[in-house]
Amino acid sequence: MTSQQKIIAQGAEATITLNENIITKNRLQKSYRIPELDNRIRKRRTKKEIKLLTKASSIINCPLPLGGRTISRENSKNKIASEVASKGGKTIHMPFISGKKLSQHLNEFPLTKQKQILKQPDKMFQNSTTQK
Ligand SMILES: Nc1ncnc2c1ncn2[C@@H]1O[C@H](COP(=O)(O)OP(=O)(O)OP(=O)(O)O)[C@@H](O)[C@H]1O
Ligand SMILES: [Mg+2]
Repeated sequence: MTSQQKIIAQGAEATITLNENIITKNRLQKSYRIPELDNRIRKRRTKKEIKLLTKASSIINCPLPLGGRTISRENSKNKIASEVASKGGKTIHMPFISGKKLSQHLNEFPLTKQKQILKQPDKMFQNSTTQK
């Protein structure tokens, strides 16, 4: 980790570091797993997350993993796989999203309103295509 990088969150699976508005999500080794399995699980989850975020970015306003920008829909699977493999497979770089988390926003509403909001996921995200 360089001096500019700072840890901003420790998730259940990964450490999130921030450096000049780009975050790095690094899935950490779990000592309770057999190392070979652990390696495969972390690679598989990283690859899936990149794929999902890249797909979602074409529909909603969410972080687009770096390297995903040039991936076309048709051959995204192979390109993502090779990119992830070339970086060691357990790290995602993506833009930093500032502000409160959805869960923090939701806590400001009573439970009935929270349920109502969660039933309208299309209204929670501003469509990325309408932003340009
Ligand atoms: N792009 C981002 N911008 C800002 N903060 C982020 C971003 N990605 C993650 N974070 C922060 O890091 C926290 C943990 O991230 P995340 O939930 O992705 O990791 P995890 O729980 O370790 O892994 P996973 O949920 O994939 O099993 C989030 O709750 C959020 O606070
Ligand atoms: Mg999480």
